[in-house]
Amino acid sequence: MAETERHPFLKGLSKHRGAPPTVIVIFGASGDLTARKLIPAVYNLGFDNLLPADFFLVGYGRKPIPDEEFRTMAASAIREFSRRELDPAVWARVAAHASYVSGGYDEKAAFDKLAAHIAGIEKTLGRDVQSLFYISTPPSVFEPILKNLGASGLAGKYLGQPHQSKVIIEKPFGRDLESARQLNSTLRSVFAERQVYRIDHYLGKETVQDLLVQRFANAIFEPLWNRNFIESVQITVAEEVGVGSRAGYYEQSGCLRDMLQNHTMQLLALTAMEPPVSLDAEAVRDEKVKVLKAIQPLVLGPGGDVVRAQYGPGLVAGKPVPGYLQEAGINPQSATESYASIRFSINNWRWQGVPFYLRSGKRMPHRVTEIAIQFKRPPGTLFAEGGRFDLAANTLSFQIQPDEGLSLILNGKIPGLETRTQPVKMNFRYATTFGSNTPEAYERLVLDAMIDDGTLFIRGDEAETSWGLYTPVLDYWRSQGRNGLESYPAGSWGPPGADALLGKSGHSWRKP
Ligand SMILES: NC(=O)c1ccc[n+]([C@@H]2O[C@H](COP(=O)([O-])OP(=O)(O)OC[C@H]3O[C@@H](n4cnc5c(N)ncnc54)[C@H](OP(=O)(O)O)[C@@H]3O)[C@@H](O)[C@H]2O)c1
Repeated sequence: MAETERHPFLKGLSKHRGAPPTVIVIFGASGDLTARKLIPAVYNLGFDNLLPADFFLVGYGRKPIPDEEFRTMAASAIREFSRRELDPAVWARVAAHASYVSGGYDEKAAFDKLAAHIAGIEKTLGRDVQSLFYISTPPSVFEPILKNLGASGLAGKYLGQPHQSKVIIEKPFGRDLESARQLNSTLRSVFAERQVYRIDHYLGKETVQDLLVQRFANAIFEPLWNRNFIESVQITVAEEVGVGSRAGYYEQSGCLRDMLQNHTMQLLALTAMEPPVSLDAEAVRDEKVKVLKAIQPLVLGPGGDVVRAQYGPGLVAGKPVPGYLQEAGINPQSATESYASIRFSINNWRWQGVPFYLRSGKRMPHRVTEIAIQFKRPPGTLFAEGGRFDLAANTLSFQIQPDEGLSLILNGKIPGLETRTQPVKMNFRYATTFGSNTPEAYERLVLDAMIDDGTLFIRGDEAETSWGLYTPVLDYWRSQGRNGLESYPAGSWGPPGADALLGKSGHSWRKP
């Protein structure tokens, strides 16, 4: 049965957004992200006929890999990680134009070789192609790659024309404000801002984009979307997993850098921003930066706006798991936080007095990402039974993952002869309405970069504004060592300090 017959809401949706002839060069093509996300994204774009007719895939890495071996590696990545089975006819079309160039990331001559490889593709084709450079390496080599893209002339190729070169740069975008500024400065010495696509894959998720649609395509929400009706906003990015095999990375990163500064801040910006004048990339990003700039500096220290913690031993999904300090590869004296929660205050007309609570952690009871808008409590006088006030606050929650959807908690009457109320939940689930085979975030983002749409990418000033809020926290924590670092049992929703953070305003965390 066709997808549109099972899910009639999909009918009539355009599937075609034309990209010009393109060569995508993936730096770090032998790596994990390439196999798990990028190759499957390219394949699925091909499956959906969204790749240009003249499309070329070039892998780049230090170890020499013959073209044929690269194609074999890519095919097995699709078999293992793609949302769709490998269709040999679709893959053959992509694979026919897939090749591999080897060289160092700091080796100018290797970039000249890459430039010649791309020029060769153009010569065979008899026309120009746009180059999209995807930097999917560890951050330590972002800068040498950028510099060599500049020095080899690849960055400036066709500058000012619609098919000018573009660069997608993976996260993390810096470790603090200073390093983000430094990376921006290198980027700007080589590329114009219009050529740069800083990725936060959360923005490619359907539900994150749906947040904008729900807010601005429905007349019922916008009049209520302010301090007069909203009590607080809670954003949760919870992981069930522990640090696993990523101890080396995580010890250097911690929860704040890994989740809060990027993904969770993007969710906050989209929830809190003013309506943009259009859906144009600059209009949307202007509004996001504006709201980030209205956030007040955080109060640090005991009783302040920030709580950090590490998980101790506990039970997750019924199984005992070790604490953070007992995990393989973790320094037993580590002060790295596996959990953080923050209270932000936004000083503008819409949000003054409405706390935005953000939390993220590892080894929480289950994996969930949600944004919950908690409305003010209704006056309960009409339905107060025996003096008991039991009306729930209306809550609108956007579930970003898993089980993407939207739900609204309302108060309803319990059937019966008495008038008693109970919170009831209205649910919209993506999978039920539209089917579960929705595109992965990377498909949308790679396509958008190919067609020159930066709406779902982070602008340079946005990255710096966000780091400007978080860097004082990192500096403060560094000065404190383990002082003030709390603990929570694995499998719980966080430490006591996180409850106290909300408790002082009469709020409590949801258990999503
Ligand atoms: N993996 C994920 O799920 C994920 C998710 C979100 C964001 N990211 C970001 O995406 C980027 C790539 O992640 P990844 O997991 O694919 O990384 P990775 O597997 O560790 O590295 C990718 C490739 O980069 C090269 N490389 C590795 N270490 C290097 C070093 N020290 N110096 C120079 N080159 C090195 C290697 O290729 P050659 O040896 O062939 O040159 C490697 O195959 C990172 O910035 C990461 O933060 C990853």
